[in-house]
Amino acid sequence: MSTPQESARLEQIKRSWQQKRQITERLDKIKTKIGVYSGKGGVGKTTVAVNLAVTLAKQGATVGLLDVDIDCPNVAKVMGITEKPDYIEGQIIPVEKHGVKVVSMAFFQENQDEAIIWRGPMIHNAINQFLQATDWAELDYLVIDLPPGTSDSPLTIMQSLPMDGFLVVSTPQDLANLDAKRCINMIRKLNLNVLGVVENYTGDIFGKGGGKDLANETEVPYLGDLALRSSYRDTSQPTILLDSAVEEEFDAMATVLKKSLKEVGSEAP
Ligand SMILES: Nc1ncnc2c1ncn2[C@@H]1O[C@H](COP(=O)(O)OP(=O)(O)O)[C@@H](O)[C@H]1O
Ligand SMILES: [Mg+2]
Repeated sequence: MSTPQESARLEQIKRSWQQKRQITERLDKIKTKIGVYSGKGGVGKTTVAVNLAVTLAKQGATVGLLDVDIDCPNVAKVMGITEKPDYIEGQIIPVEKHGVKVVSMAFFQENQDEAIIWRGPMIHNAINQFLQATDWAELDYLVIDLPPGTSDSPLTIMQSLPMDGFLVVSTPQDLANLDAKRCINMIRKLNLNVLGVVENYTGDIFGKGGGKDLANETEVPYLGDLALRSSYRDTSQPTILLDSAVEEEFDAMATVLKKSLKEVGSEAP
Protein backbone atom coordinates (compact mmCIF):
# COMPACT_ATOMS: atom_id res chain seq x y z
CA MET A 1 0.00 0.00 0.00
CA SER A 2 1.31 3.44 -0.86
CA THR A 3 0.98 6.43 1.44
CA PRO A 4 -1.24 9.36 0.40
CA GLN A 5 1.94 11.35 -0.34
CA GLU A 6 3.22 8.61 -2.61
CA SER A 7 -0.12 8.38 -4.41
CA ALA A 8 -0.23 12.12 -4.90
CA ARG A 9 3.31 12.10 -6.24
CA LEU A 10 2.49 9.26 -8.63
CA GLU A 11 -0.61 11.09 -9.79
CA GLN A 12 1.50 14.20 -10.45
CA ILE A 13 4.08 12.24 -12.45
CA LYS A 14 1.30 10.66 -14.47
CA ARG A 15 -0.26 14.04 -15.23
CA SER A 16 3.04 15.53 -16.29
CA TRP A 17 3.68 12.55 -18.61
CA GLN A 18 0.23 12.88 -20.12
CA GLN A 19 0.89 16.56 -20.72
CA LYS A 20 4.24 15.83 -22.38
CA ARG A 21 2.69 13.16 -24.58
CA GLN A 22 -0.16 15.40 -25.61
CA ILE A 23 2.24 18.25 -26.47
CA THR A 24 4.37 15.90 -28.56
CA GLU A 25 1.28 14.65 -30.41
CA ARG A 26 0.12 18.21 -31.07
CA LEU A 27 3.50 19.41 -32.28
CA ASP A 28 4.01 16.32 -34.44
CA LYS A 29 1.28 17.62 -36.70
CA ILE A 30 3.22 20.85 -37.29
CA LYS A 31 5.93 20.43 -39.90
CA THR A 32 7.96 23.56 -39.22
CA LYS A 33 8.21 25.80 -36.18
CA ILE A 34 9.92 29.16 -36.72
CA GLY A 35 10.71 31.59 -33.88
CA VAL A 36 10.87 35.32 -34.66
CA TYR A 37 13.30 36.92 -32.28
CA SER A 38 15.20 40.14 -31.60
CA GLY A 39 17.60 41.75 -29.18
CA LYS A 40 15.11 44.35 -28.06
CA GLY A 41 11.53 45.47 -28.49
CA GLY A 42 10.42 47.85 -31.20
CA VAL A 43 12.64 46.49 -34.00
CA GLY A 44 9.69 44.98 -35.88
CA LYS A 45 9.41 41.44 -34.55
CA THR A 46 5.61 41.37 -34.51
CA THR A 47 5.50 43.10 -37.90
CA VAL A 48 7.77 40.40 -39.36
CA ALA A 49 5.95 37.52 -37.65
CA VAL A 50 2.51 38.67 -38.87
CA ASN A 51 3.50 39.54 -42.44
CA LEU A 52 5.62 36.42 -42.81
CA ALA A 53 2.75 34.21 -41.62
CA VAL A 54 0.30 35.84 -44.05
CA THR A 55 2.87 35.58 -46.87
CA LEU A 56 3.35 31.85 -46.29
CA ALA A 57 -0.43 31.36 -46.20
CA LYS A 58 -0.83 33.29 -49.47
CA GLN A 59 1.74 30.99 -51.01
CA GLY A 60 -0.57 28.08 -50.25
CA ALA A 61 0.80 26.74 -46.95
CA THR A 62 -1.30 26.04 -43.85
CA VAL A 63 0.02 28.45 -41.24
CA GLY A 64 -0.39 29.12 -37.53
CA LEU A 65 0.81 32.16 -35.61
CA LEU A 66 1.54 31.87 -31.90
CA ASP A 67 2.15 35.00 -29.87
CA VAL A 68 4.15 34.26 -26.75
CA ASP A 69 5.65 37.72 -26.28
CA ILE A 70 4.49 37.72 -22.68
CA ASP A 71 5.05 41.40 -21.96
CA CYS A 72 3.79 42.80 -25.26
CA PRO A 73 1.46 40.32 -26.96
CA ASN A 74 0.52 42.47 -29.98
CA VAL A 75 -0.17 39.91 -32.67
CA ALA A 76 -3.95 39.91 -32.26
CA LYS A 77 -4.04 43.69 -32.54
CA VAL A 78 -1.87 43.78 -35.66
CA MET A 79 -3.97 41.00 -37.22
CA GLY A 80 -7.13 42.94 -36.38
CA ILE A 81 -8.55 40.17 -34.21
CA THR A 82 -11.08 41.27 -31.64
CA GLU A 83 -12.86 38.00 -30.98
CA LYS A 84 -11.73 35.42 -28.43
CA PRO A 85 -10.92 31.86 -29.43
CA ASP A 86 -13.49 29.11 -28.96
CA TYR A 87 -13.08 26.48 -26.30
CA ILE A 88 -14.47 23.13 -27.27
CA GLU A 89 -14.17 20.32 -24.74
CA GLY A 90 -11.21 21.99 -23.05
CA GLN A 91 -9.44 22.71 -26.32
CA ILE A 92 -8.46 26.12 -27.66
CA ILE A 93 -9.54 26.60 -31.26
CA PRO A 94 -7.33 29.27 -32.88
CA VAL A 95 -8.98 32.33 -34.39
CA GLU A 96 -8.58 32.38 -38.17
CA LYS A 97 -7.74 35.63 -39.98
CA HIS A 98 -6.16 36.34 -43.37
CA GLY A 99 -5.76 32.59 -43.84
CA VAL A 100 -3.70 32.20 -40.63
CA LYS A 101 -4.68 30.45 -37.39
CA VAL A 102 -3.82 32.69 -34.46
CA VAL A 103 -3.37 32.10 -30.74
CA SER A 104 -2.05 34.85 -28.49
CA MET A 105 -1.29 35.28 -24.82
CA ALA A 106 -3.41 38.41 -25.15
CA PHE A 107 -6.53 36.25 -25.58
CA PHE A 108 -6.18 35.34 -21.93
CA GLN A 109 -5.73 38.84 -20.60
CA GLU A 110 -8.70 40.46 -18.94
CA ASN A 111 -8.03 43.79 -20.59
CA GLN A 112 -5.53 45.01 -23.15
CA ASP A 113 -3.55 47.33 -20.90
CA GLU A 114 -3.03 44.81 -18.17
CA ALA A 115 0.64 44.33 -17.33
CA ILE A 116 1.75 40.74 -17.32
CA ILE A 117 4.51 39.96 -14.89
CA TRP A 118 5.40 36.33 -14.99
CA ARG A 119 8.36 34.40 -13.74
CA GLY A 120 10.13 31.44 -15.28
CA PRO A 121 8.08 28.53 -13.88
CA MET A 122 4.80 30.35 -14.56
CA ILE A 123 5.85 31.04 -18.13
CA HIS A 124 6.88 27.44 -18.54
CA ASN A 125 3.52 26.29 -17.22
CA ALA A 126 1.50 28.69 -19.32
CA ILE A 127 3.38 27.77 -22.50
CA ASN A 128 2.91 24.09 -21.81
CA GLN A 129 -0.80 24.59 -21.24
CA PHE A 130 -1.02 26.55 -24.49
CA LEU A 131 0.80 23.84 -26.36
CA GLN A 132 -1.25 21.09 -24.80
CA ALA A 133 -4.64 22.71 -25.27
CA THR A 134 -4.41 24.31 -28.71
CA ASP A 135 -5.89 22.34 -31.57
CA TRP A 136 -3.91 23.59 -34.60
CA ALA A 137 -4.79 20.50 -36.63
CA GLU A 138 -2.19 19.96 -39.38
CA LEU A 139 0.14 22.87 -40.10
CA ASP A 140 2.98 23.41 -42.54
CA TYR A 141 4.33 26.32 -40.51
CA LEU A 142 3.92 27.69 -37.04
CA VAL A 143 5.40 31.19 -36.73
CA ILE A 144 6.12 32.18 -33.13
CA ASP A 145 6.48 35.79 -31.95
CA LEU A 146 8.92 35.54 -29.04
CA PRO A 147 9.76 37.96 -26.23
CA PRO A 148 12.88 40.01 -27.05
CA GLY A 149 16.26 39.87 -25.38
CA THR A 150 18.25 37.26 -23.56
CA SER A 151 16.41 37.24 -20.24
CA ASP A 152 14.45 34.50 -18.53
CA SER A 153 11.28 34.58 -20.65
CA PRO A 154 12.69 33.96 -24.14
CA LEU A 155 15.02 31.37 -22.66
CA THR A 156 12.19 29.50 -20.96
CA ILE A 157 10.15 29.52 -24.16
CA MET A 158 13.04 28.31 -26.29
CA GLN A 159 13.46 25.42 -23.92
CA SER A 160 9.76 24.49 -23.74
CA LEU A 161 8.99 24.79 -27.43
CA PRO A 162 11.03 22.68 -29.83
CA MET A 163 11.69 25.04 -32.75
CA ASP A 164 13.26 24.26 -36.11
CA GLY A 165 15.04 27.57 -36.03
CA PHE A 166 14.97 31.30 -35.46
CA LEU A 167 14.75 34.33 -37.62
CA VAL A 168 16.53 37.27 -35.99
CA VAL A 169 15.23 40.77 -36.68
CA SER A 170 17.69 43.63 -36.48
CA THR A 171 18.05 47.19 -37.75
CA PRO A 172 20.66 49.03 -39.85
CA GLN A 173 22.24 50.40 -36.68
CA ASP A 174 25.26 49.01 -34.86
CA LEU A 175 23.76 49.06 -31.39
CA ALA A 176 20.82 46.87 -32.34
CA ASN A 177 23.26 44.51 -33.97
CA LEU A 178 25.20 44.14 -30.77
CA ASP A 179 21.96 42.99 -29.08
CA ALA A 180 21.13 40.78 -32.05
CA LYS A 181 24.57 39.19 -31.83
CA ARG A 182 23.91 38.29 -28.20
CA CYS A 183 20.65 36.66 -29.30
CA ILE A 184 22.39 34.64 -31.98
CA ASN A 185 24.94 33.47 -29.42
CA MET A 186 22.19 32.45 -27.04
CA ILE A 187 20.38 30.44 -29.73
CA ARG A 188 23.63 28.69 -30.56
CA LYS A 189 24.42 28.00 -26.92
CA LEU A 190 21.10 26.14 -26.73
CA ASN A 191 22.17 24.13 -29.80
CA LEU A 192 19.34 25.56 -31.88
CA ASN A 193 19.40 26.83 -35.47
CA VAL A 194 19.61 30.42 -36.62
CA LEU A 195 17.72 30.53 -39.93
CA GLY A 196 18.89 34.02 -40.79
CA VAL A 197 18.94 37.74 -40.12
CA VAL A 198 16.41 40.29 -41.39
CA GLU A 199 17.19 44.00 -41.43
CA ASN A 200 14.20 46.22 -40.73
CA TYR A 201 13.86 50.03 -41.08
CA THR A 202 16.28 50.14 -44.02
CA GLY A 203 16.46 53.50 -45.85
CA ASP A 204 17.73 57.06 -45.78
CA ILE A 205 16.93 57.67 -42.15
CA PHE A 206 18.66 54.74 -40.47
CA GLY A 207 20.88 53.60 -43.33
CA LYS A 208 21.48 50.15 -44.68
CA GLY A 209 23.86 47.27 -44.28
CA GLY A 210 23.99 46.53 -40.54
CA GLY A 211 21.92 43.39 -40.95
CA LYS A 212 24.06 42.03 -43.74
CA ASP A 213 27.25 42.77 -41.79
CA LEU A 214 25.81 40.95 -38.81
CA ALA A 215 24.87 37.96 -40.97
CA ASN A 216 28.37 37.83 -42.46
CA GLU A 217 30.05 38.20 -39.12
CA THR A 218 28.00 35.48 -37.45
CA GLU A 219 27.96 33.31 -40.59
CA VAL A 220 24.20 33.00 -40.87
CA PRO A 221 22.06 33.49 -43.99
CA TYR A 222 20.92 37.01 -44.79
CA LEU A 223 17.17 36.97 -45.40
CA GLY A 224 16.89 40.48 -46.81
CA ASP A 225 15.88 43.97 -45.77
CA LEU A 226 12.56 45.67 -45.15
CA ALA A 227 12.43 49.36 -45.95
CA LEU A 228 11.12 51.93 -43.51
CA ARG A 229 7.76 52.86 -45.01
CA SER A 230 4.76 54.95 -44.11
CA SER A 231 2.44 52.16 -45.29
CA TYR A 232 2.95 50.43 -41.93
CA ARG A 233 0.96 53.23 -40.32
CA ASP A 234 -2.28 51.81 -41.68
CA THR A 235 -2.98 49.10 -39.14
CA SER A 236 -6.28 47.93 -40.61
CA GLN A 237 -4.55 44.95 -42.25
CA PRO A 238 -1.14 43.28 -42.37
CA THR A 239 0.96 45.59 -44.55
CA ILE A 240 1.69 43.00 -47.27
CA LEU A 241 -2.00 43.18 -48.13
CA LEU A 242 -1.85 46.98 -48.49
CA ASP A 243 1.48 47.67 -50.17
CA SER A 244 2.81 45.59 -53.07
CA ALA A 245 6.41 46.73 -52.43
CA VAL A 246 6.18 45.25 -48.91
CA GLU A 247 4.59 42.13 -50.34
CA GLU A 248 7.60 41.72 -52.68
CA GLU A 249 10.05 42.12 -49.80
CA PHE A 250 8.27 39.40 -47.81
CA ASP A 251 7.98 37.07 -50.80
CA ALA A 252 11.73 37.36 -51.33
CA MET A 253 12.37 36.79 -47.62
CA ALA A 254 10.17 33.68 -47.58
CA THR A 255 12.10 32.21 -50.52
CA VAL A 256 15.45 32.53 -48.75
CA LEU A 257 13.93 31.35 -45.48
CA LYS A 258 12.63 28.17 -47.11
CA LYS A 259 16.12 27.46 -48.47
CA SER A 260 17.54 28.00 -45.02
CA LEU A 261 14.95 25.63 -43.51
CA LYS A 262 15.88 22.91 -46.02
CA GLU A 263 19.50 23.27 -44.96
CA VAL A 264 18.67 22.56 -41.32
CA GLY A 265 16.69 19.50 -42.39
CA SER A 266 13.16 20.83 -41.90
CA GLU A 267 10.38 19.23 -43.97
CA ALA A 268 8.78 22.57 -44.87
CA PRO A 269 6.94 22.54 -48.20
N1 LIG B 1 9.64 48.79 -41.93
C1 LIG B 1 8.85 49.54 -41.15
N2 LIG B 1 8.52 50.80 -41.54
C2 LIG B 1 7.72 51.57 -40.78
N3 LIG B 1 7.21 51.20 -39.59
C3 LIG B 1 7.50 49.96 -39.15
C4 LIG B 1 8.33 49.06 -39.90
N4 LIG B 1 8.44 47.91 -39.20
C5 LIG B 1 7.72 48.06 -38.07
N5 LIG B 1 7.15 49.29 -38.03
C6 LIG B 1 6.31 49.85 -36.95
O1 LIG B 1 7.13 49.98 -35.78
C7 LIG B 1 6.40 49.69 -34.61
C8 LIG B 1 7.11 48.57 -33.82
O2 LIG B 1 7.08 47.36 -34.57
P1 LIG B 1 6.73 45.98 -33.89
O3 LIG B 1 6.65 44.97 -34.97
O4 LIG B 1 5.56 46.10 -32.99
O5 LIG B 1 8.06 45.74 -33.03
P2 LIG B 1 8.39 44.61 -31.92
O6 LIG B 1 7.40 43.51 -32.07
O7 LIG B 1 9.79 44.19 -32.24
O8 LIG B 1 8.33 45.32 -30.61
C9 LIG B 1 5.00 49.30 -35.07
O9 LIG B 1 4.16 50.41 -34.94
C10 LIG B 1 5.18 48.93 -36.55
O10 LIG B 1 4.03 49.18 -37.31
MG1 LIG C 1 6.02 42.73 -30.68
